[in-house]
Amino acid sequence: ARPWRGLIEEYRDRLPVSDATPVVTLLEGGTPLVPAGRLSQLTGCDVFLKVEGANPTGSFKDRGMTMAISKAAEDGAKAVICASTGNTSASAAAYAVRAGMTCAVLVPAGKIAMGKLAQALVHGARLLQVDGNFDDCLELARKLSVDYPVALVNSVNKYRLQGQKTAAFEIVDALGDAPDVHCLPVGNAGNISAYWMGYKEYADGEAASKTPRMLGFQASGAAPFVKGEPVLKPQTIATAIRIGNPASWDLAIAARDESGGAIESVTDRQILAAYRLLAREEGVFVEPASAASVAGLLQASEQGVVASGATVVCTVTGNGLKDPDWAISGAPAPTTIKVDAHSAASELGLT
Ligand code: F0G
Repeated sequence: ARPWRGLIEEYRDRLPVSDATPVVTLLEGGTPLVPAGRLSQLTGCDVFLKVEGANPTGSFKDRGMTMAISKAAEDGAKAVICASTGNTSASAAAYAVRAGMTCAVLVPAGKIAMGKLAQALVHGARLLQVDGNFDDCLELARKLSVDYPVALVNSVNKYRLQGQKTAAFEIVDALGDAPDVHCLPVGNAGNISAYWMGYKEYADGEAASKTPRMLGFQASGAAPFVKGEPVLKPQTIATAIRIGNPASWDLAIAARDESGGAIESVTDRQILAAYRLLAREEGVFVEPASAASVAGLLQASEQGVVASGATVVCTVTGNGLKDPDWAISGAPAPTTIKVDAHSAASELGLT
């Protein structure tokens, strides 16, 4: 086997690139599809986790960013801009460095996780905290990209979804066919749209015999698809998906309906329970928003929406290290001891 070359080289024939495209890559993609024993036991399904936190900047955004930045470079862009709940900005900042571009990011003030803020800063992005929510930031970024010489790399950039669709290819390549059900968190709704595009493309050819039902899950305080209209003041502890007016509205509705799927909501309490279950029973540390897919699977299984025996993939979108506050706040404070084997042994209950 040859080493992984990054998703543009791996799936070049299925992506809108040519010899004229300078490939800007951190060798993203090729992430683990991990069998989830405990979740399989709980649901009676064959459950797998697509661990997107294993991407170079720790989230699935790298898949879209390698495409968006490569195409921006092909177009001669010198600067890129994005709005973000944190992961897009971290990814854009890193890929802009690789491309020798400047990067500007607009984030909701006080509402992005510390690790993500650190990533944008360490990669040298120009970061503005906006006194508003993600939806306000996106509107601002769109305006700036129209009026000034700066390329927008949010998922409204069509190349982003092209890159992100490769996660579906990898899953089919690993399983030998599409799963029966695919669960994922929904925020700005780009990713569910991208997976659906990928699954459809593979089912058009020889690679897959079917497409999965797409099940998307929003946080109950930020669930415009469930409500059927934008939410003005979205609220959830899962800051990555604290979005009230998703940009890819029509594409996500199409993914839901064409696949025979659904977009439902889960509470913050369910999200945190799934977050802890993943960490303590599967050994997989994700950020809270990512656990929405697993909280959703457990709910759907309980409601009989996902029958036992199904093959199910849950995308866990981002690495737990980005937002460690929830890991620490739920755990007992560590004990400090002297340099002494006896007290260590007694604290550890070994005596
Ligand atoms: N999970 C994580 C960890 C995310 O960062 C996001 C989106 C989503 C899920 C939802 O994906 O928007 O395609 O429906 N984060 C964006 C950002 C909004 O700015 O990083 P979606």
